[in-house]
Amino acid sequence: MPVHRVLFVCLGNICRSPLAEGVFAAVAHKHGLAVQVDSAGTGNWHVGRPPDRRSQQIAERHGLDIGRQRARQVETADFACFSMVLAMDEDNLRELQRRKHAADPAHLGLFLDFAPGLGLRSVPDPYYGELEDFEETYRLVHAASEGLAQHLAGA
Ligand code: 4NP
Repeated sequence: MPVHRVLFVCLGNICRSPLAEGVFAAVAHKHGLAVQVDSAGTGNWHVGRPPDRRSQQIAERHGLDIGRQRARQVETADFACFSMVLAMDEDNLRELQRRKHAADPAHLGLFLDFAPGLGLRSVPDPYYGELEDFEETYRLVHAASEGLAQHLAGA
């Protein structure tokens, strides 16, 4: 069985991408997929910190513990190590496209493109929002996780 290596990327790696990492790992497990997942930020302000308390709270609400994750910044080697690098929004996708070398094998794209029914391509940044904005983040990353798992299961 192929191991799919997927990296989720947002700006700070404390709100959206840690939740995406945790949710996708659980969904992939449910689908019986072999995956290695990680997350990172294009920015470095929060390196070494655990996920935002509100992301952890929403994860717990859905039976997931993401508290052992620690924020890190995207590295050049990620484009060689991961088969897919999925951005949470179009700004971060543009930043990743700028950093990726043409020869790097990783597929680079938007996570929400795996859930076209949402009618949304970017996960809104919940950092300055309320807890319920993080619930919306969960809803979006869960839908995209199901879409990505189905895509990989058919690959
Ligand atoms: P994230 O959210 O990119 O989903 O982790 C943010 C976290 C921190 C900041 C912005 C967005 N910040 O400006 O510090």
